[in-house]
Amino acid sequence: MLVAGNWKSNKSFNESMEFANAFAKLDAAPEGVEVMIAPPAPYLAAMGATSLPFRLGSQNVSATGPGAQTGEFTADMLAGCGVQDVIVGHSERRDGHGDDDETVAEKVNRVLEAGLRVVFCCGESLQDRQADVHFDKVLRQLESGILHLPAAAMDRVVVAYEPIWAIGTGLTATAEQAQEMHAAIRGWLAEGYDAEVARAIPLLYGGSCKPANADELFACADVDGGLIGGASLDPENFQAVVAAAGRAVAAEASNA
Ligand code: PGA
Repeated sequence: MLVAGNWKSNKSFNESMEFANAFAKLDAAPEGVEVMIAPPAPYLAAMGATSLPFRLGSQNVSATGPGAQTGEFTADMLAGCGVQDVIVGHSERRDGHGDDDETVAEKVNRVLEAGLRVVFCCGESLQDRQADVHFDKVLRQLESGILHLPAAAMDRVVVAYEPIWAIGTGLTATAEQAQEMHAAIRGWLAEGYDAEVARAIPLLYGGSCKPANADELFACADVDGGLIGGASLDPENFQAVVAAAGRAVAAEASNA
């Protein structure tokens, strides 16, 4: 299980460091649960230089390498700052910041070339779902973003399914809706690679995932964790989501 926090453009630098200290004092990550936080980019180098109680993630990366690219930061630069995971293809970047499918695919490539792990986001809009094209939409995103990768790269790929209508809206996909899409994603990965590769790729659910619904979502067979926005901003809230992932791991172990 992986529980990843996406702070988006929230928190001052001091608040970020306070979060890390407060989170370190809470219960350690339960057995079988990885925790990641993606703070705002300006804080990455300083946070990466301290000992953190979570993996350090970036919310974005340049689609290019080094050179005359004012304002961009490359995957190698992130790696040099202690970043381990990079979120690519978040709907807020696809819709508001020009990350089209081609750019997203380039960013995925840059992250993997730098030896980092990519958290690849996909998900449909409300219109897509109402028009019953949500499966097609997500499959197309996967095809253009990750299904071109060699099998050997797939152990550094995480997929986050985030229905856009559930992000920051308080509306959550039901456990059935999440499981149905996750099972479809797992199936497409199995077709593109094989069942073993598909099973090993963590599939996160994102979209108003919080302590009140995390147990139900994480209990789904094909949900391997969450990408958490709003509920990752407070250490106790985030820890409660992490604890839910711990319960899901324990339940799975006792059923095995
Ligand atoms: P949310 O955001 O948990 O606030 O809905 C999730 C995300 O955008 O990754």
